[in-house]
Amino acid sequence: MHGGIAMKSLVVFYSRTGTTKKIGEELAQLLACDSEELVDTIKRSGPVGYASAVRDAMQKKLTTLADIKQDPALYDLVILGTPIWGGTLSSAMRTYISANKSTFKKVAFFCTNGVGHQKLFDEMEALCGRRPIHTLGLPEKEVKHGDYQDKLRQFAYRFD
Ligand SMILES: Cc1cc2nc3c(=O)[nH]c(=O)nc-3n(C[C@H](O)[C@H](O)[C@H](O)COP(=O)(O)O)c2cc1C
Repeated sequence: MHGGIAMKSLVVFYSRTGTTKKIGEELAQLLACDSEELVDTIKRSGPVGYASAVRDAMQKKLTTLADIKQDPALYDLVILGTPIWGGTLSSAMRTYISANKSTFKKVAFFCTNGVGHQKLFDEMEALCGRRPIHTLGLPEKEVKHGDYQDKLRQFAYRFD
């Protein structure tokens, strides 16, 4: 920290196969802050789940989330993390933002992706109605091979 009072932060993430979850959990640990994992009540595993995931994401459909535990209104900063699906947000993260954006103060974004995340953060910014204070996009490969730690630490340090 640089002498300021730490912002009270909440890391909120959705993850279908664990990649974004790994980053979300490590980020919450680095920041010593609370976290919330979004659970999509629509099954997204297996080939049928995959097909529904890409279809619902591209149609910008909302889903039903399992119970939310933390109240984002109580935090100075909400850090939102999602995998990119069909070039856009996962349905779970889209649903969370649409339900809670009026309570957000500061926001930051991160994502994991296969090939790229162009435009994802612009879309998240438009949905939140707020410019993110920081963003981080990580290729899934870097997360799998453990090459992401420097980037994640640099991202975390920027919130001090
Ligand atoms: C339905 C679906 C659609 C995807 N679409 C994209 C895409 O448009 N661009 C991309 O870079 N990666 C895409 N991916 C790859 C994921 O973003 C990547 O594997 C991510 O790290 C998965 O995160 P998770 O393990 O937290 O679910 C897609 C994955 C799924 C399951």
